[in-house]
Amino acid sequence: MQRDVIVREVGPRDGLQLVKEILPTETKLNWIKAEKEAGMVEFEVCSFVPPKVIPQFSDARAVAGGALEIPGIRVMALSPNIKGAEIAFEVGVHVLNYVLSVSKTHNEANVRRSREQSIADFAEIVKMRNADPNLKHIKIGCGLATALGCTLEGDVPEDETLRVLEQVLEAGVEEVMLPDTVGYAHPSQVRSLFKKAIAIAGDVPVITHFHDTRGLGLANVLAALEAGAKHFDASLAGLGGCPFAPGATGNIVMEDLVFLLESEGLTTGIDIEKLRAAREIVEAALPDEPKHGRILKAGLPKGFTPATTLIAAE
Ligand code: COA
Ligand code: ZN
Repeated sequence: MQRDVIVREVGPRDGLQLVKEILPTETKLNWIKAEKEAGMVEFEVCSFVPPKVIPQFSDARAVAGGALEIPGIRVMALSPNIKGAEIAFEVGVHVLNYVLSVSKTHNEANVRRSREQSIADFAEIVKMRNADPNLKHIKIGCGLATALGCTLEGDVPEDETLRVLEQVLEAGVEEVMLPDTVGYAHPSQVRSLFKKAIAIAGDVPVITHFHDTRGLGLANVLAALEAGAKHFDASLAGLGGCPFAPGATGNIVMEDLVFLLESEGLTTGIDIEKLRAAREIVEAALPDEPKHGRILKAGLPKGFTPATTLIAAE
């Protein structure tokens, strides 16, 4: 079906990285399958990191392998270094999402190296992929964490984010995320950054990744839409947060994001009501985690027809 915008479920990665209770591999895969039934096609399923850094991802190979067996979805995995990229290549994920931070202090805290070293390693990873014909189907993305603010450094200047964006474009990035890792961003800031970033990136998609820490997540989505963004990360029930960014909390809520986009007349390909089944899996598996989201609690407005349903009926 035609999708005006692409929403990407990052819950199995971002949503779970702060969750102490280890979710069984099978539950992670059941979550992904249930959400696929609702029309979701893009999933960030895990991080390839040392198990002692984030024990939740000890089963990352099994989760990615299992997800690759689900037909019709695009399987993405986060890798913070060359070693993680090597594992992603071996497993054969569809998209490797590298991460580095615009804030130098956050980069050191998150991946224990300088930002310059992280950029140099990223260029190396792209070269590794390009040198091996068996890997040519693997796309390489990069998230510029703290692109819109940092709890360690405070304000992150727009010019600084754009400069790092230019460096990863130069290195050969194929899709780029500009995460508001700690929920500092506000709509004017988002509108301005995304306008400039989209102009600089050309054919390379610039993807939003908002956290709702201070309640402006969906307002920022609208601002990014106005600036031309077409790809939006979110997490079912608003789980999420970076373990190495003090005060970080959940992503924007997938269910509510889909409702917003569909109300704007944009097809997402997602059936909001069918997201309920996936949400039930997460609620049963993580009874003690705070879960967010309004639309499934309140129900769709009487007579509301999502854009996706309208197009499907034509
Ligand atoms: N996956 C699995 N194992 C890895 C690995 C990876 N991606 N990277 C390194 N290792 C292993 C090494 O082989 C080494 O093992 P050994 O002790 O048996 O020799 C050990 O981990 C330490 O390796 P080193 O290169 O020194 O890593 P580090 O301790 O400097 O940690 C990172 C660097 C990047 C691996 C770590 O900081 C990290 O995982 N950060 C991720 C943070 C994150 O996910 N944040 C949230 C998302 S934004
Ligand atoms: Zn995030």
